[in-house]
Amino acid sequence: MAETIGFIGLGKLGMDCAEVFAEKFTVYGYDVVPRSSDLVKVCDIEQVVRSSDWIFIAVPTPHEEGYDGSVPSSHMEPKDFGHDAVKDAILNINRYADSPKHVVLISTVLPGTTRRHFAPLIDPKHQFFYNPYLIAMGSVKWDMANPEMVMIGTKNGQPDEMAPLIDIYRPLMKNNPRYVTGTWDECEAIKIFYNTFISAKVGLVNMIQDFALKIGNINVDVVTDALAQSTMRIMGPKYMTAGMGDAGACHPRDNIALRWLAQEYDIGYDLFDTVMHAREIQAKNLALFLVDIAKKENLPIIIHGKAYKPDVPYCIGSYSTLIGHYIKEAGRTVKYLDPLADDDTDVIKSVKGPVVLLMAHNRQITYGYTGDVRDDAFYTPIEAGSTIVDPWRKIVGMTGYKVIHYGNTRT
Ligand SMILES: NC(=O)c1ccc[n+]([C@@H]2O[C@H](COP(=O)([O-])OP(=O)(O)OC[C@H]3O[C@@H](n4cnc5c(N)ncnc54)[C@H](O)[C@@H]3O)[C@@H](O)[C@H]2O)c1
Repeated sequence: MAETIGFIGLGKLGMDCAEVFAEKFTVYGYDVVPRSSDLVKVCDIEQVVRSSDWIFIAVPTPHEEGYDGSVPSSHMEPKDFGHDAVKDAILNINRYADSPKHVVLISTVLPGTTRRHFAPLIDPKHQFFYNPYLIAMGSVKWDMANPEMVMIGTKNGQPDEMAPLIDIYRPLMKNNPRYVTGTWDECEAIKIFYNTFISAKVGLVNMIQDFALKIGNINVDVVTDALAQSTMRIMGPKYMTAGMGDAGACHPRDNIALRWLAQEYDIGYDLFDTVMHAREIQAKNLALFLVDIAKKENLPIIIHGKAYKPDVPYCIGSYSTLIGHYIKEAGRTVKYLDPLADDDTDVIKSVKGPVVLLMAHNRQITYGYTGDVRDDAFYTPIEAGSTIVDPWRKIVGMTGYKVIHYGNTRT
C-alpha cells in the first residue's frame, strides 16, 4: 500500500513542500491557522497524525524580535531559536499516534538541539529524523525537487536507517541529488554551516567591493570572476558576485543564533559575529555612498526593492532596510519602491523628479540558477536625470540617467 504523508505546519516552507509531495503521495496537513490547498488534505491534527505513516514537522523555530538582520544586531546578546512549536508538534504526535510513525523534522535548529530538547520528548516507538532543506523563498518548489543534497540525520547516523526516507524522496527529485546521512547533530551542523558559509562568502566578496571603492582602478567583478573560476582551491561561482549583502528569513538569523552557540560551547571566538558585523558595516558603506551622492546632487534617496529579494513580499532580514537604517542614521530620509513588500513603512508607489536610486533587486542574480528569469524593469517610471546606483553592475545602455556601477572604480 502506498505510504501517506502528513505535514504539521503549512507556512511558507511547509505548504509548498507538502504540495510537492502531493504530486506522488496522499498528503494530509495541519496548521494552527486555517490553510487551504487543492492538493493537500487540510484537516485537524488528530487526523494528520492518525492517517500518516510519515509526519513532517515544518513549524517555526523563531528568533527573538530584532534578530532577523534587517536592522543592526551584532551588538545584541546572542540567543538560541525558540523550540515551543516543535515541542508542541512532537507532543501532538505522541498524543494521537496509535502506531509507530516516522517523524521528520525539517525546521532549522542549531547543532545539538534535537538530542538535547526533542529526543527526550518523543515516544520511543517513533523513529525521529532530522532532515533540513536548502530552500529559498520564491523558488521553494523548484529548490525542493532540485536540491544540492538531501541531509538525513538519525540518532546514530547509520546509513541503512535512512533507506526508507530516501525511497520517499526518490520519485520527487528531478536532479538525482546527493543523499548525505549522519547523526542528528551532523545534519543540524551541515544545514546551518551551509548557510553561514554563504554569509561568509557574501561578506568576503562585498569586502572586495569595499576595497575597490577605496583603492580605485578595480572592477570588483574582474576580481571575483577570477576567484569564482578558481575551483582548485576555492569553490564554485554561486554567491561570488559582490552586491547587496546576505539577507532573508534564514541566513542572517542563523548567524545571529550561532553567536549564541559559540558562547554556549565556549568556542573561544565568534566568527559569526565577525560575519554579521562585516555585513552591517558593508551596508553602512553603501548607505554613506548613497548619502554622499544625494548631498552632492541634492536629490532624495530611493531604494528599488524593500523585500529581501525580488518577486517575494518578505521584508524579514532585508539588506535594503539595513541600508535604509544607516541612511537615516546619517540624517537623510529614505523611501522604497516595492509593489509586493509586506511592510509598507516608507514604501511609495511613484516617484516625482530625479532621485538617487539604489537598484537593490536583480532577478538574474537571484533566480538565474533556476532558469526562471523575468524582466528587470523599474517598479515605477523613474525620471530622466536620476542617478542610478547599481550594486550588481548589470545596468548598461540606459540613456537619460547617470548609472554608477558600485564596486567598479576603473576609470
Ligand atoms: N522559508 C524557508 O525558505 C525555509 C527554508 C529552510 C528552512 N526553513 C525553516 O523551516 C521552518 C518553518 O519556516 P517557514 O518559513 O515555513 O515559517 P512560517 O512561519 O511561514 O510557517 C510555519 C507555520 O507553522 C504554523 N505553526 C506554528 N506553530 C504550530 C504548531 N504548534 N502546530 C502546527 N502548526 C504550527 C504557523 O501557523 C505557520 O503557518 C523554520 O524553522 C525555518 O527556519 C525555512
